Amino acid sequence: MRSVLLSISTISSLCTVTLRAQNDLPIPPLISGSNIDLQLQEGSWEFHPGELIETYGYNGDLLGPTIVLDQGQEVTLNVTNTMPDLTTTHWHGLHVAPEHDGGPHSLIMPGTTWSPSFTVLDKASTYWYHPHAHGLTDYQVTKGAAGMIIVRDAEEAALDLPRTYGVDDIPLILQTKPIVDGQIMLHTGLDTVVVTNGVREAQVTLPAQIVRLRCLNGSNERTFLLGFSNGMVFRTIATDGGLLAAPVPLTRQFLTNGERAEVLLDLGGMEGQVFELMSYGSELPNGTMGSADVSMMGATPDAYYENGLNGSDFRVLRITVGPPTAAPVTTIPAALALVEPYEEADATVTRQFVFTPEVMGPVGMVEGPIMINGALFEMDVINETVLLGSTEIWTITNNTAVGHPFHIHDIQFHVLDRNGQPVPPQEQGRKDVVFVPANGTVRVITRFDDFADPDVPYMYHCHILMHEDEGMMGQFLVVDPNAIGEPSGAGNTLYIAPNPSSDGSVLFRAAGAEGAAEWVVLDATGRTVARSTTFLTAPGTTIDLSFLANGAYTLRLHPRSGLARTYQARFILQH
Ligand code: C2O
Ligand code: CU
Ligand code: CU
Repeated sequence: MRSVLLSISTISSLCTVTLRAQNDLPIPPLISGSNIDLQLQEGSWEFHPGELIETYGYNGDLLGPTIVLDQGQEVTLNVTNTMPDLTTTHWHGLHVAPEHDGGPHSLIMPGTTWSPSFTVLDKASTYWYHPHAHGLTDYQVTKGAAGMIIVRDAEEAALDLPRTYGVDDIPLILQTKPIVDGQIMLHTGLDTVVVTNGVREAQVTLPAQIVRLRCLNGSNERTFLLGFSNGMVFRTIATDGGLLAAPVPLTRQFLTNGERAEVLLDLGGMEGQVFELMSYGSELPNGTMGSADVSMMGATPDAYYENGLNGSDFRVLRITVGPPTAAPVTTIPAALALVEPYEEADATVTRQFVFTPEVMGPVGMVEGPIMINGALFEMDVINETVLLGSTEIWTITNNTAVGHPFHIHDIQFHVLDRNGQPVPPQEQGRKDVVFVPANGTVRVITRFDDFADPDVPYMYHCHILMHEDEGMMGQFLVVDPNAIGEPSGAGNTLYIAPNPSSDGSVLFRAAGAEGAAEWVVLDATGRTVARSTTFLTAPGTTIDLSFLANGAYTLRLHPRSGLARTYQARFILQH
């Protein structure tokens, strides 16, 4: 945690050499098992020596333990909020039911505990967790609340890969923090403090053999372009949600907000060498947060230029190569995992997501707020309804002057193309974040399996946390058409057809009931969106709901002369 800034002035005042003391890279403790306790708490941290800054962390002052999960295991996570704010905790990248996902609807009030339980269905990869309360995500994550998740599976275990945590398998949470006058200050654009696992000027000694780095971009807005100061070629082996088919040799790894990449370094025979993991900001294309310029129209905010990291190459981690371990991994497997992208021909639905500034003009183009499909996020609006089991293509078009990292909850997707071109091999794996460049378009394909809930939505959003908090987010329900409504003939029966309704008109019939009744249509959040009275007849009543947005609804019949009790059933509009 300590670092000392030494200025050694030589006799010639023209030459000042600045040496910075290095800080040992902290390795977050591991936590595993079927019951995992996490406590969100207030703390303090010395990013600079002698300057204690108020922070948030899980089970400590900053960041959190690394959660290790095995595919197929059951886990209960008990998240206790001892902070003064309300919060949530989201398992970023994990495929879980919406009520266990920790999105903005799963609030954990101060002094309470939230305990989701689920089966781990994910493939071996690097995931993470962080708060996700609407409007508070940037504040709580930037103040320090975030941790890594490692999922293991049999396919990964069968490979000869480095997996001794903290020795040849190294978690790297890469962040830049806006620290101004002894405080974490959001929305200043002055994220000038580079921290790796929470410390500045981080250094680590790695063994002279194959080493795995699990890189996570946990920054609020900066994109990294990772590479090594000695120019060495490394091999990327995993994307957000799983191993690649084969290692990809690279000298640069692009890593935008929320993304993960696992890379292998071959340090064999390099004992004694010292080099740096760098971010090459000077090579980022303009229009990317962290590049030299984010506007082609002269509207880049002044603070952006004041931030010396933008457009610059800077150090993320100093690596000293030490002696090899007793049983080192010395070769890199040629093949890794079976990667099965979805077939474009299987997609039954294509959805469009278009980013535009809320305020037109050069400043709005860069600073936001940014809308998706002409709207900002609202807690009680369901933007999309997806049918369980369907394969969909999402086309994401960015009509703004900066690139946005687009993240989808629930699923892992495959990127079909970016600006019409196939993506490079290191992106041809399972992904949950994709970079959508300024004035660019990306298409992704995915399938919505396993979890449907007509009430609790999943999120999609920009992972620049300020944009997300400002409303660059939407929500979707996954609904199971076979579980909604009741088949005719059963006892408590309200029959609705067609379901889903593709033209907005719906026929309903309450089995065995005749006479007057009031009907009410409720949306997914329970608001009444339509109501009237009708005279129930055997053939049924047809109502026109084409003025309602697509989504899942509940139809309720209240007793009048024709009904002895309330009937209710769910249906979907998809018109
Ligand atoms: Cu990493 Cu919706 O979040
Ligand atoms: Cu997520
Ligand atoms: Cu954004």
